[in-house]
Amino acid sequence: MQIKAPRGTYDILPPDSDKWQYIEKVLRETAQLFGFQEIRFPIFEHTELFERGVGETTDIVSKEMYTFRDKGDRSVTLRPEGTASCTRALIEHSAYSGVMPVKWYYTGPMFRYDRPAAGRFRQFHQFGVEAFGSHSPQLDIEVISLLVQILANLGLKEYELHLNSVGCPKCREVYRQKLVDHIRPVKEHLCKDCQIRFEKNPLRVLDCKVNTCHEAITGYPVIYDTLCEDCREHYSIVQKGLQEIGIPYQHDNNLVRGLDYYTNTAFEIHLPQLGTASAIGGGGRYNGLVHECGGPDIPGIGFAIGLERLLLALENELSALNKPGCVFVAVFDKTYDMDGLKLVNQLRKDGFAAERDTTGRSAKAQMKFADKLGARMAIILGKDEMDNGYYTLRNMESKEQITVKPKDLNSTIKKILA
Ligand code: HAM
Repeated sequence: MQIKAPRGTYDILPPDSDKWQYIEKVLRETAQLFGFQEIRFPIFEHTELFERGVGETTDIVSKEMYTFRDKGDRSVTLRPEGTASCTRALIEHSAYSGVMPVKWYYTGPMFRYDRPAAGRFRQFHQFGVEAFGSHSPQLDIEVISLLVQILANLGLKEYELHLNSVGCPKCREVYRQKLVDHIRPVKEHLCKDCQIRFEKNPLRVLDCKVNTCHEAITGYPVIYDTLCEDCREHYSIVQKGLQEIGIPYQHDNNLVRGLDYYTNTAFEIHLPQLGTASAIGGGGRYNGLVHECGGPDIPGIGFAIGLERLLLALENELSALNKPGCVFVAVFDKTYDMDGLKLVNQLRKDGFAAERDTTGRSAKAQMKFADKLGARMAIILGKDEMDNGYYTLRNMESKEQITVKPKDLNSTIKKILA
């Protein structure tokens, strides 16, 4: 029986991998412009990190983690997200004792046992950033503007930035009580999971995906109305900052995020045309997470973009991705195979993308092959060329041919490629 990739995973083959390389380059370069540096952390962590960090009652931890016992009987989990790992690394390396804020970015695969659908996978990729060490709303504005700048640099125009504040533990407690009072009378109408969520963490009922739960709690109180003075002030500065630099957003009372660590500012990027997988990225502040994970009382804020969804959103923009094109060395007479080898070898050393035939094609078939490779020009080596010490250079687009002396080859190629 043929073995296929596990459900919810997939291979990235050329030419799609070109698109991945392109977006990853833009993501890295934009984050670096904002002063973020790369962190690489393990693909798996101790399960406890996510239980403590992301929250035991979240869907991610309660239903979606790839958790197993290793040969040493330790419970480990494939990372479902990156914020908890960054927090662990910050504490483990006392990275907070240097210059603050600490600004990290990361990219790579994440794992969630979710139901596969369009834009929803079990192994998917995120690009994320985390900034630790400042309570100032100015940092929130910086982080959100990085997210917006990334989308602009990739050419994405039609999206919605949703913004909310989920408050601090102080105002959250007031809100929790209001929510409990609202939900208790309709508790019986909630799904089984939500009945448990209601007891353990009623806020999680708000991001249940079951329609009847939404209907049952309709008209629920919004967190914005219970924000304390400080949280209101923080949120209004974030909004003002975004307005100052011309970033459109919409306040969204329903935005609560699906992970427990958030405090204050929360945000998501939505592309309604992507349907149920409309969130291409999201993030927010998590002022209590470092402390919760055993570190000092240091605030943080960040976001992550789902790269599969980003690529879906950029389908049109990326279809015209220009490849630089290569130089094809065509050997029209087998006698000169080794000359072809030497030339292609030298061209690569000189920094040109160069290709040749290694399967014994005829002259005509070599030119067809060069076309398929998207070669910009072919350097032809035949008897006449070799006897008289020149190359024939064919422009693959215009089909024009010129002769070039070996000493002028590189400069001529450069001129044509430019
Ligand atoms: P999240 O909202 O869980 O946040 O995930 C961020 C993004 O990852 C989503 O908006 C979505 O695009 C993508 N994503 C999530 N699950 C899947 C899936 N099963 N298949 C495909 N794409 C998916 C976090 O992970 C937080 N750690 C973000 C953050 C960083 N908050 C603060 N700092």
